[in-house]
Amino acid sequence: MYICDNIGNCEGHLTFAGIDTTLLAEKYGTPLYLMDEDKIRENCRIYKNAFTKYFGENALPLFASKSASFKRLYEIMAEEKMGIDVVSSGEVYTAIKAGFDLKNAYFHSNNKTDFDIEFAIQNGIGYFVVDNIQELERINFEAGKQGKKQDILLRLTPGIDPHTFEAISTGKVDSKFGSAIETGQAEIITCQALEMENINLCGFHCHIGSQIFETEPFYKAAEVMLEFISLIKEKYCYEISQLNLGGGYGVRYTNNDPVFDIDGSIKQVAKSIKEICEIKKLSIPKILMEPGRSIVANAGMTLYTAGTVKEIPGFKSYVSIDGGMTDNPRYALYKADYTVLNASKADKTPDFKCSVVGRCCESGDIIQENVNLVKPTRGEIIAVCTTGAYNYSMASNYNRVGKPPVIMLSKGKDYIAVKGETLEDIVRNDI
Ligand code: LLP
Repeated sequence: MYICDNIGNCEGHLTFAGIDTTLLAEKYGTPLYLMDEDKIRENCRIYKNAFTKYFGENALPLFASKSASFKRLYEIMAEEKMGIDVVSSGEVYTAIKAGFDLKNAYFHSNNKTDFDIEFAIQNGIGYFVVDNIQELERINFEAGKQGKKQDILLRLTPGIDPHTFEAISTGKVDSKFGSAIETGQAEIITCQALEMENINLCGFHCHIGSQIFETEPFYKAAEVMLEFISLIKEKYCYEISQLNLGGGYGVRYTNNDPVFDIDGSIKQVAKSIKEICEIKKLSIPKILMEPGRSIVANAGMTLYTAGTVKEIPGFKSYVSIDGGMTDNPRYALYKADYTVLNASKADKTPDFKCSVVGRCCESGDIIQENVNLVKPTRGEIIAVCTTGAYNYSMASNYNRVGKPPVIMLSKGKDYIAVKGETLEDIVRNDI
């Protein structure tokens, strides 16, 4: 299985979701985000099927919408019967506008503002995933004010190090997220939640990190969480009904990344959960997971137009494209790997070693260093693969560059899911 096994159509052009990418670039302009709707649905179904098979009918995968958030995606998630994980009022509002039923929405974040809490309760958010005591108190207060009893999960840190990039590792004791089991803070917040009048404690949540290719950290985390659930049951006679194991499965950005079997991994995690529940005499809770990257990353591709090709003899060569860190900041932030291709000459052998760089006024504006490309000439189309996660959602207007449109592809057809920002959009909020 390759990241992009297309060696060009009869004209030597790269295709994506069965469509000639150069024609899409011509039709919509570049930079351009492409999203393969059928692939997104296929990825959702991998989770849905595995969940039903191994965890039972009531288990629910939630799409972590921080990885990509716009109305059309929430519609697709509703159609695929996925829940969602949201982290801001902006994501909640987008989901509402898409008609997504918020009863299957879980509101995360380590610092929900008073407005977030008020707005989400007003709009009937299903659950808050509560990070800390101050937030718990505020939710209790706001729910009381609105005459509601609010369902929550508590975010706990199980102390698992999943060996991923430091910036996206979150389950360790000293993480900024959640309440640590090891320090006793998890037990304290649980007791407080149980005593609060307007709070209904439904379960616990943990998220250990992102871009993880091993199953072991997941069942280790599940083990620690079940251990804690058992302790709470014994000490306080309270058995929670939901366990959320977070997101984090890795995807292949280049051929160096391993192929990961999500179904097989979920099977193993489920087996381990069943065994522990049996030993500890716990009922198997409703299991949730929150995949983001593994739902949308490989459904995405970004197209650019090559501009300047600069060769510095004895040093290095650059291919400048008409986007960059504004539409994909992941290399600048994490030195993230990507597969880059000359989409106009996909049938030729890559032989030009270069760095593909953006057009922002800063040297760190790099899409990828030292890639092998078919040497482009100005005007040819450059494709960056696997950009469906954390690209559009992390895009910025640095240098007052407008965000590219998102074009959905399905069954050989293309349609606009998000319009590109115009120059007028750039000044819209300026007074
Ligand atoms: N649940 C929670 C609580 C999370 O914090 C995250 C990701 C997820 C689920 C989804 O994880 P995924 O399945 O997508 O790995 N911007 C970084 C990734 C940050 C991940 C943040 N949390 C990147 O571009 O790699």
